[in-house]
Amino acid sequence: KRLLILASGSGSNAENIITYCRERGQNEVVAVFTNKSTAKVLERCKRLGVPAYFFSKAAFSDSDNFVEVLKTFSPDLIVLAGFLWKIPEALVTAFPNKIVNIHPALLPKYGGKGMYGDRVHKAVKDNGETETGITIHFVNEAYDEGAIIFQAKTQIDSQDTPETIAQKVHQLEYEHFPKVIEKLLVQNG
Ligand code: GRF
Repeated sequence: KRLLILASGSGSNAENIITYCRERGQNEVVAVFTNKSTAKVLERCKRLGVPAYFFSKAAFSDSDNFVEVLKTFSPDLIVLAGFLWKIPEALVTAFPNKIVNIHPALLPKYGGKGMYGDRVHKAVKDNGETETGITIHFVNEAYDEGAIIFQAKTQIDSQDTPETIAQKVHQLEYEHFPKVIEKLLVQNG
């Protein structure tokens, strides 16, 4: 099955998914798209030999055209792995239940616009939460509000900092995201 990944940052999840698919042989990340010309994910794709494309805000805003570009790859699933822009309605409509996102917290809490990266882990810590985790969900036109597919938890103790919490959450992402994607692709037949 054919996967597209959208990423805005480092791309460690993208790399993890690419290598997992290659090990398993069933699915393939056919391309990676990023909205940040300096995103480290571009270097990772170069090293991994995965086609990677930068797109501007203007290109993304022309959502009908952007949809046509993505359609040329005939994706079975579009994966948001640290992609920070809201997905336009046209994209959600063009790929119903075929866009998934990973959020580094236990939605519906600690979600929404602006809640990403260490801000999430700082809010979780500041609110005295004793656990956090990841949420993998279908994407709709609102930030972090689509149907939840999978969640995994990790404990937070008093010595934890946003940085150590981020590490724990990243471990959950690397362990679970590729497997959840694989299951979705099997289910989608
Ligand atoms: C991850 O923590 C993910 O949960 C969030 O953005 C981060 C992406 O990290 N959506 P990376 O770019 O995959 O390293």
